[in-house]
Amino acid sequence: MNDPAGREAFRVQLESWQARMESALDSRLPGPEVVPARLHEAMRYSVLGGGKRIRPALLFAAARAVGRSEEEVEGAACAIELIHVYSLVHDDLPAMDDDDLRRGRPTCHKAYDEATAVLVGDALQTLAFHVLTRDPALPASPAIRLRLVELLAEASGSFGMAGGQAIDLAVQGKQLDLTQVEEMHSRKTGALIRVSVMMAAACAPSLDSRLQEALAGFASPIGLAFQIQDDLLDVLGDVSTLGKATGADSERSKPTHPSVIGIEASQERVRLLHAQALDALAPLDSRADLLRSLADWLLSRHY
Ligand code: IPE
Ligand code: IPE
Ligand code: MG
Ligand code: MG
Ligand code: MG
Repeated sequence: MNDPAGREAFRVQLESWQARMESALDSRLPGPEVVPARLHEAMRYSVLGGGKRIRPALLFAAARAVGRSEEEVEGAACAIELIHVYSLVHDDLPAMDDDDLRRGRPTCHKAYDEATAVLVGDALQTLAFHVLTRDPALPASPAIRLRLVELLAEASGSFGMAGGQAIDLAVQGKQLDLTQVEEMHSRKTGALIRVSVMMAAACAPSLDSRLQEALAGFASPIGLAFQIQDDLLDVLGDVSTLGKATGADSERSKPTHPSVIGIEASQERVRLLHAQALDALAPLDSRADLLRSLADWLLSRHY
C-alpha cells in the first residue's frame, strides 16, 4: 500500500482498462439516433464518460490470474458494468435515494425524466444478458455462457443487489447491529463485486478448485470493504472529488458502518477485510499481483 512506484504503475493500468471499457461499452450500446432515440441517448448518457469501472477492473485482474486475456472477458466486463450502471440509475431515483448528482453530472432522471430513468435501468439490465449470450469474443462454449448468465442473474436479483437495495430501503431510520449492516452491504454491493471476480474464474472452467476458492475468499471481503469505504466517503469525502452528494446517508438516516460503529472502527474494519482478502490470494502467487494492487487502490481511494 505504501509503494509509490507500484501505485503509479497500477494507476496507469487502471486508466488503460477504463479506456478499453469506454470503447467496449460504446460499441455495444445502440447509437443515439436509433429509435427510440431518447431512450438510447439516456442509456449512453448514463453508461459512458464516467465511473471508475471497478467491477470490470476486478474482472480483468482476475482474468489475468486465471490465464484469460482481456479480449476474451471484455464482453463479461461490459455485462457487469451495464448491470452496475442500471443499479445506479435506479438507486438515484426519487423513490430510492433521490440524488441529483452522479459521476459529476445530473442523474439520469434529472437530465431526462423519471420514466426514462426507469426504462434505462430496464434496458441496461437486459442488454447485459444479451451481451453475455451473443458476444463473439467470450470463450465460446455454451456451457460457459450459461454459467456467466447464471452467476450474473443471481448476483443482480433479489438474493443479491436488488435484494440488498430492498433491505437498504426497509431499514432507513432503524437501528441495526453490525451483522445486519454487513448482511445488507454484502448483498447490495458485495454481490456484484464478488461476481466480477467469479465470472473471470468461470471463463477458466478447468481452474483448480483450490484457486477458485482463493478467488472467492478474496472477493467477499473486498466487496464488503468497498461499501464500507463508500459509506466512509459519504462522511469524509467531498462532492467535487466524488462526483456525487456527501452527507446523504445521514440525511436519510441510513444505517451504515460509520453510523453504527463510528469512523475509526469502520476504517479498522476496512483494514482487516483488506488483510483477509490478501491472505486468501496466497495460493495464486504472483498471478494475483494485479488483484493485490487493485485491492490496495480500492480501499485507499478518495473517490
Ligand atoms: C457506487 O459504486 C455505488 C456502490 C455500489 C457503492 P462505484 O463507486 O463503483 O461508482 P462508479 O461506477 O465509480 O460511479
Ligand atoms: C448503492 O449504494 C448500491 C447500489 C447501487 C446497488 P449507495 O446508495 O450507497 O451508492 P451511492 O453512494 O449512491 O453511489
Ligand atoms: Mg442507495
Ligand atoms: Mg445512493
Ligand atoms: Mg453511498
